[in-house]
Amino acid sequence: MPISGRDRGRRPNAEPRSKGIRPDGGPGAEGCREAVRCTGRTGRRLLPGLLACFLAPGAAAAQIDDAALAEQGRRLYEQQCALCHGSEGEGRPPAVPALRDNERLGIAARTIRFIRQGAANMPPFPALTLAEVAALSSHVRTAWTNDLGGVTTGEVAAVLDASTDAGGLASVWDGVFTEAQAARGRDVYTGACGLCHGRRLNGAPDDPDMRSTPPLARARFLREWEGRSLAVLLAYTRLTMPEDNPGSLTDEEYVDVIAHMLSVGRMPAGDRELPTDPRRLAGIVIRRDR
Ligand code: HEC
Ligand code: HEC
Repeated sequence: MPISGRDRGRRPNAEPRSKGIRPDGGPGAEGCREAVRCTGRTGRRLLPGLLACFLAPGAAAAQIDDAALAEQGRRLYEQQCALCHGSEGEGRPPAVPALRDNERLGIAARTIRFIRQGAANMPPFPALTLAEVAALSSHVRTAWTNDLGGVTTGEVAAVLDASTDAGGLASVWDGVFTEAQAARGRDVYTGACGLCHGRRLNGAPDDPDMRSTPPLARARFLREWEGRSLAVLLAYTRLTMPEDNPGSLTDEEYVDVIAHMLSVGRMPAGDRELPTDPRRLAGIVIRRDR
């Protein structure tokens, strides 16, 4: 069954986005909390932890703050995960597994790896900090009816080696597709998407008898998708679209359509095509502004 319906909790806009994928990755209060949490839980890294607290501006007031971490996990989940796994962790079986009442999440290392590295149809999240992976892992293991225990940043660091870190992050404004690719994408779009999403990608179908759909470009689309990566957009689109025949295009065709969507949104073309590799797409973030 494809993901569909309006109840899948994809309204992260009500929340501030600042805790999402952070391009700078700087320490700040979060790094401090992370350090304190590490020392608090494992007794290791005491000195670096305290140093981070003294050096991080504005972090002096940061304390071991489980409530703040829980809130961070909840917010990240709504922004990055709920569109597929559902606000109540119900998933969209069989395409997307439920996370609620899912005993496989009991294996912490497996949960951590899934979140960071992804899988067949699950996008990777290489840009999340270790603290963010810990917050998310804790959230999915303790939310709803789950009672599988929290995960510390130290545990995440022990599971993930540094090679899974994102390199630098790019944004959709950095010339990430070519004009030729967007032109190919326009043709695919016309045949596979345009009937429902409209010639102008504004969600108004050309046929007035058809119901409207979400826009796929410009301000409203960007507001909805800001902070998510193109790997999430590709995975979501492939899992659910075209709504009447999900997964029916090749990966190349899907990314070509994404290039067309960006081009209609007035993002500049560059001299390299948008790749299909999820790990590389995970390094390109949708941003409302340049
Ligand atoms: C584009 C849709 C999509 C998004 C977004 C997504 N996932 Fe997934 N997720 C999947 C799919 C599909 C699978 C199953 C993958 C497989 O087994 O090959 C999965 C599997 C998982 C699993 C393993 C579940 C099991 O039963 O083995 C975990 C844990 C998980 N996702 C957590 C997350 C978290 C946390 C986020 C947000 C950071 C997230 N996912 C975002 C689609 C998604
Ligand atoms: C049969 C009609 C139909 C076709 C064809 C179709 N879509 Fe959709 N699309 C929808 C509907 C309806 C929704 C809203 C689904 C929902 O909210 O659960 C949607 C939602 C989306 C979304 C999520 C937008 C958002 O902000 O939530 C994306 C992205 C998308 N479609 C891309 C595509 C692409 C790319 C194609 C062509 C490959 C395509 N769709 C073809 C009907 C269609």
